[in-house]
Amino acid sequence: MRYSDDLIEEVRSRNDIVDVVGMYVHLTKKSNRYWACCPFHGEKTASFTVNPQTQMFYCFGCHKGGNAITFVMEYDSLSFPEALKVLADRAGVQLPDVEATAEEKAQQNLIQRLYEVNKLAAGYFYSARKSERGKIADNYFKKRGLTDETIKHFGLGYSHMFSDDLYKFLKEKGYDDGFLKETGLVTFSEKGGHDKFWNRAMFPIMDERDRVIAFGGRVMGDGEPKYLNSPETRVFDKSNNLYGLNYAKLSRKGYFLLCEGYMDVISLHQAGFTMAVASLGTALTDKHATKISKYVKDVYLTYDSDKAGINAAIRAIPMLEAKGITVKIVNMKPYKDPDEFIKALGAEEYQKRIDTAESSFFFEIEVIKSRHNLEDPKEKSDFYTEVARRLLEFSGELERKNYEDAFVKRYNVPYKAFDELLIKVAGREGPKNRGDSYEKNQESPNREYRSKEEKQRDEKLLQPQRLLLTYLVNEPALYKKLKAVISPEEFTDNLYRKVAELSFSECESSGIVNAARITSLFEDKDDQLKVGEIFQTELKGDMSEMERMKAVEDLVRKIKLSAIETALAAAAEVGDSARVSQLFAEQIRLKNKNTKLF
Ligand code: UTP
Ligand code: MN
Repeated sequence: MRYSDDLIEEVRSRNDIVDVVGMYVHLTKKSNRYWACCPFHGEKTASFTVNPQTQMFYCFGCHKGGNAITFVMEYDSLSFPEALKVLADRAGVQLPDVEATAEEKAQQNLIQRLYEVNKLAAGYFYSARKSERGKIADNYFKKRGLTDETIKHFGLGYSHMFSDDLYKFLKEKGYDDGFLKETGLVTFSEKGGHDKFWNRAMFPIMDERDRVIAFGGRVMGDGEPKYLNSPETRVFDKSNNLYGLNYAKLSRKGYFLLCEGYMDVISLHQAGFTMAVASLGTALTDKHATKISKYVKDVYLTYDSDKAGINAAIRAIPMLEAKGITVKIVNMKPYKDPDEFIKALGAEEYQKRIDTAESSFFFEIEVIKSRHNLEDPKEKSDFYTEVARRLLEFSGELERKNYEDAFVKRYNVPYKAFDELLIKVAGREGPKNRGDSYEKNQESPNREYRSKEEKQRDEKLLQPQRLLLTYLVNEPALYKKLKAVISPEEFTDNLYRKVAELSFSECESSGIVNAARITSLFEDKDDQLKVGEIFQTELKGDMSEMERMKAVEDLVRKIKLSAIETALAAAAEVGDSARVSQLFAEQIRLKNKNTKLF
């Protein structure tokens, strides 16, 4: 399904990007751009910009860029047609009903029905709890201190003793086995369909848009597993959803409390801490951290006080900090988790623990310390070395110095000796990158892992292509010269090549490059973000006319040489020797700096 390019352009151009972004973030005008703290990566000083001339946004920190449609897609996690709809409504543009392809229809239908069936199941569990048989779950929740209001607020329920109760109910509603398999609510064996959840206290899991996407079910008493969770489905991605986020995002406290369990979130909300969220039966992931950073810049970790909780915190801290989030750790001792703490000491005491939460740095230092016996001289110096390594992860000189001062003061370490050690470790191991270590350890099959060298090689190839396009946008008059010496086919990267084709053809027809229009010709959000980056690459200012032409010529030369290299490899592969010698000759000609290109 796709609307016409003209209609998309109408919607885009009738939504001024400054107004659109302004609905979500506070923009400040400085010279000819608007600035804000980036809503996509979390930061304390503004590097996110909106350019009213080009109608594009760009962040100099995380390099995300694009037009108004890209922004809405990224900010609200919407698909292209969804974002377009939001903007069309905003501008009062009527979108025609466009026929979806059969495949698209089937996919949309499946997703829609998954939301529907989850909602239905949630209602079913909810009324089951209110039935005679469900008293057991209702009592369980009450025994755990939840009020009727809280139970209702979180939609808590009960799954009956019978093992095919929900299955029958859903069959009666007309859902077939093939579909029910996709829901994760029913499992199938030779004997037929069985409910995944039975005789459990049920916790519906909502996404940030209040849709039920999965369930957690707890045994009421002892038993294994304590919590059973829905498997991942087309609507439930564990690594991207946080329990309680649908409410926490409305709390407007400026920070989140991040905890481990369902009951922690619920108890905290009941006690008035409506900014509590939890990752669900899984350790915090990079995607969780990104999601959190869209809402808040500060996180209070309130993980269990046991060893597992401490380890989970040590893993979570650098992930969150890599997104620009400041992390503090709430000490709940002598209690295990927020639920137990609040039950024992109440909300006021918990608030005090938030107010006196420890910085992540000193928390980490304490953990490192606990792993060393400081009575032993060798272990003591190992402890100092590890602290030095941690300090070297601060990229700011001043920040590092401040933490170093605070450390020697708090732990009574002679400053001079420690500083010498720090310099020694820095010389031996070089500066560290915060978050590097966890990135390497993360198991993530979907994530394409590229080495630093590969990334650098790609960048060396792409940067000239990006810069040349930037020149063209800023100065469409260059087009006449460029078209004589380079063609879009010589852009080696697929996406860049398409952008080059579009830019060239715009210059041909209208004499200018409309970056915002070109951006929305790409439906995929990641493509749009890359296009945004291409068009926002900064050019060095104050160059003379001659210097600029020299720079452009240089870029053209670089791009043509990489295109030749690719073509050479291909020609050699098929043994086309005539083409090889032709390309060689061209390569020699271009490598000669005296060869004028224009
Ligand atoms: P905890 O074991 O810390 O439980 O698991 P809890 O939150 O304190 O639960 P209560 O108070 O005993 O009811 C923390 C979270 O880990 C996931 C759940 O999301 C749980 O809330 N978990 C735990 C599972 O998914 N499965 C399990 O078997 C146990
Ligand atoms: Mn608990």
